[in-house]
Amino acid sequence: MKVIIADDYEIMSREAAKVVAAEIEKNPDCVLALPTGGTPLGFYAELVRMHKEEGLDFSRVTTFNLDEYLGLPETHKSSYAFYMYDNFFNDVNVNRDRVHIPRGLAEDPHEEAAAYEREIKKAGGIDLAVLGIGRNGHIGFNEPKTEFGSLTRPIYLAKRTIEANARFFDDDPDAVPRQAISMGIKTIMNSRKIILLANGPEKSGAIYQTIHGPVTDMVPSSVLQLHPDCTVFLDRDAASELKPPSDDVVQGPGIMSMVY
Ligand code: F6R
Repeated sequence: MKVIIADDYEIMSREAAKVVAAEIEKNPDCVLALPTGGTPLGFYAELVRMHKEEGLDFSRVTTFNLDEYLGLPETHKSSYAFYMYDNFFNDVNVNRDRVHIPRGLAEDPHEEAAAYEREIKKAGGIDLAVLGIGRNGHIGFNEPKTEFGSLTRPIYLAKRTIEANARFFDDDPDAVPRQAISMGIKTIMNSRKIILLANGPEKSGAIYQTIHGPVTDMVPSSVLQLHPDCTVFLDRDAASELKPPSDDVVQGPGIMSMVY
């Protein structure tokens, strides 16, 4: 896996945004998978800046969000749909017809998930998936013990995830929905390119296991070791437990790049 360690969160966010910009420049019709949460806020801010100041054009881009809570309308301020419009879509020229987010109020979540999977296929698959990571190694909302062959489906959130995400629900764990719809591990792994972002000391253990640990369903992100084109973007805190790389380290302004 390729690993980029940035001096700080801003540089990490900028470097990750550059990968998306390069993808769009290479293929203006590209299909992106997108995360929510605290980690990508700087990344979205940088993409918005690139759109406003450098003309980065999202008009032909198709997006699929990784997940959405079940039971929340998209108008709920803690829904991922609300997050995406608030932090990104409202500030760029994305075509709303090309935006896909599972519907939290879908009457039949299983059918919603199956339809989502069909839409991804119809769009030609995902060119670039952008991921965050949970403290327990979840990607999307694929919690430990998720099968690597899983597709988009309704899931139950792990207790640790509910606790971690209470900060987006006025610090009330009881307000966090217990279920969500998430892209599956297989759906994510079928993406042609993957980048994963992580910052802060609370992610260092999961990052160690993602990169150095065995590939195991107990740490869903460890499956990324099997992907042919995956790059992990870290700040120094998230990288603090990594072993020194055996290959050459390439230094750039504010970043170190290495392969494990
Ligand atoms: C959210 C998602 C999750 C988050 C993860 C980290 O769409 O897919 O996997 O990326 O829970 O969340 P933060 O960034 O808030 O620590």
